[in-house]
Amino acid sequence: MVVRGAPAIAIAAALSLAVETSKLLSEEQGFTGTSKDAASFLINKLEYLVSSRPTAVNLADAATKLTEIVTNSAASATHANQVFQAYIEAAETMLEDDVASNKAIGSHGSSFIQNLKKDLNKLSVLTHCNTGSLATAGYGTALGVIRALHADGVLDRAYCTETRPFYQGSRLTAYELVHEKIPATLIADSAAAALMKTGRLHAVIVGADRVAANGDTANKIGTYSLALSAKHHGVLFYVAAPLISVDLSLASGDEIVIEERSAKELLNTHGGLGEQVAASGISVWNPAFDVTPANLISGIITDKGVITKTGNEFDIKGFAHKTGSSN
Ligand code: MRU
Repeated sequence: MVVRGAPAIAIAAALSLAVETSKLLSEEQGFTGTSKDAASFLINKLEYLVSSRPTAVNLADAATKLTEIVTNSAASATHANQVFQAYIEAAETMLEDDVASNKAIGSHGSSFIQNLKKDLNKLSVLTHCNTGSLATAGYGTALGVIRALHADGVLDRAYCTETRPFYQGSRLTAYELVHEKIPATLIADSAAAALMKTGRLHAVIVGADRVAANGDTANKIGTYSLALSAKHHGVLFYVAAPLISVDLSLASGDEIVIEERSAKELLNTHGGLGEQVAASGISVWNPAFDVTPANLISGIITDKGVITKTGNEFDIKGFAHKTGSSN
């Protein structure tokens, strides 16, 4: 949990291997193998990195793309260093692409929501967990939409949940909102339904770790409860994520692997960092993510535009095809 947030984990993994690779390039002895050995060296490291984050798609997606690049490079390279150089350039491009993609998500999301809520001068939104600059290469996904709404002068207030048990909301999102001087209020996770009941909230915007082909979305634990409450109170519920977060190989969210984390996050104070407060001997279930079914989601805000429903269903495959994003 030193690096967290699905996109930030993918970028940190790609760049940390780029640092190791550039050290090999600069050492006199360097790497003594062939270009094919260099590709195998990188691919083995990427496979190891992917195992650290089963729920999110970003790391696996980055590893697949980087594997393809080093494999292609090794096919024509005459020296291992050429493969390493190709890897470093691709990892650096990923960093730039993530920021650009987040800015596009922000802009699409803000225009779309403003268009839906034309009758309102200003609107208030709620977000969960942390999806900002501290979870991505920069700008953020769901928090990027909030930033864009604020920049467009239409945001009345952003509410953020604490996000128990690890407090990404109070530690990170609250910090980013204060830093950006965005009018913001922190609430306990359990206060969300009461806030919706007041009628002061117009939309919930959350990030995603993985979206299945039907729109079911895995995100931080507690997202599902927020979506149920939003449905009950007639509040719009949006997922904001780059289109690469959609895993078309999974028909539904039932196939998404949910990572479980240490019992200490619940037993101890400060999300596991402080002293134990729960009774010794109690058993703990601590899934880090949950899956929100597509029927509770109003739309998916991506870097290519907003995916809305045709009838009761998302046609994500069709959207990817239409926007030229399908592989
Ligand atoms: O456990 P974390 O802090 O890594 O969880 C982060 C989230 O759940 C985010 O909402 C998700 O990764 C999307 S980040 C843009």
